Amino acid sequence: MSAPALRPRPAPGLGFQAIGAEEEALVLDVLRRKEPFRYYGADPAKPPPMAALLEKEFREYIGMDYALAVTSGSAALEVAMAACGIGPGDEVIVTAWSWIACFTSIVRVGARPVLAEIDESFNLDPKEIARLATPRTRAVMVIHYQGVPAAMEPIELEAHRRGIFVIEDCAQSLGARYRGRHIGTWSDIATYSFQYNKVATAGEGGMIVTRDQRLYERAVRMSDLGNYRPVHAALAPSQEPAFAGGQFRMSELTAAVALAQLRKVDKIREHCRALQARIAPRLRGLKGLKLRPIADPEGDLGFEPYLLLDDPAKVAPFREKLDARNVNCGARTGTYPQYNRDYVKTGRAHTPAASPFRDFKEWPAPGYRAEDFPRTEDLTKRFIALPLGWLYTKEDADYVADSVLAVHREMFG
Ligand SMILES: Cc1ncc(COP(=O)(O)O)c(C=O)c1O
Repeated sequence: MSAPALRPRPAPGLGFQAIGAEEEALVLDVLRRKEPFRYYGADPAKPPPMAALLEKEFREYIGMDYALAVTSGSAALEVAMAACGIGPGDEVIVTAWSWIACFTSIVRVGARPVLAEIDESFNLDPKEIARLATPRTRAVMVIHYQGVPAAMEPIELEAHRRGIFVIEDCAQSLGARYRGRHIGTWSDIATYSFQYNKVATAGEGGMIVTRDQRLYERAVRMSDLGNYRPVHAALAPSQEPAFAGGQFRMSELTAAVALAQLRKVDKIREHCRALQARIAPRLRGLKGLKLRPIADPEGDLGFEPYLLLDDPAKVAPFREKLDARNVNCGARTGTYPQYNRDYVKTGRAHTPAASPFRDFKEWPAPGYRAEDFPRTEDLTKRFIALPLGWLYTKEDADYVADSVLAVHREMFG
């Protein structure tokens, strides 16, 4: 079989590529009412509807009792940890291969991130909890990496046996399921992002869900300068004292875009899963590579199949050949092992006293160096990501598979 004729490069992107009349209508509604602030507007007795409606539809969609809209996924992580009461002296287990905010949000509340290995799914290896837990461990933060659900059942069992919180970071995977249930419902508290690259976007924005009334009230207070306003008290009467919070409130304009986008998540999911279903079966069983294993393939969003090559030396040439055929195949997806980031190498927080690493005599200490993570090092040098998107057609998907097969023939014979 000869190599397929060159096709134009498809435009990548998820939620932002689906922005249309629905987002416009809701944003215009906010502007025409002149009510961009969520807690009060023209009529002080009647708070504007958009953020409250987004929270209602979000919690109904995910299947959780409470949802709180905030300014970003990073803010959501900080708020979630503050809600759990995590702070100085505490440790939080998080995968070394995770987004910047996963690490920094732990440092920002004064706790110490403890880095864990991933497994071949690129999510937390559940066995890492037993290896890394200490009497100071208060939580494990589980990232559902690029649309693929982590193995929540063993993670939840191990964490709860030890009496530690599970925080699910669903920023990259809104709409993914695990064992038939939405991710975000497997933990004490879960977070989402509406940043530009996400399945649903408002440019920026975040969400927190929980079924725990106490965590909800504490999250609200952390997100709104210690306040707990009537719209929240109507859902869950106050039981918690005020404390000094931050200010991470979502605006009505952001909520309008996020709401229109939320209503499109399942369409985007179905689209990407259908594209992936045309590609994945054709790439199974190829010599020298495999697709990343998925804890629950039925729950995968399907927007980014990963090839795992046996030989790391073959990754760069394989990728270059795909790229030359106009196949999008990112070298990185914005994620780096945390131990390679500047703030881990320096161990700094915004001021020395705030660094959870200040008592280490030597830095980077064991557990914060590349040589401590043989599996993460190995796996992250052997993958090629094949992002799919809202504007990809069936023909684009077939072309991705044809091209991978052609490059494979060329390189592996
Ligand atoms: C896994 C993960 N967590 C948290 C975030 C932070 O979200 P935001 O950019 O909205 O602050 C991101 C954003 O890319 C992410 O990918």
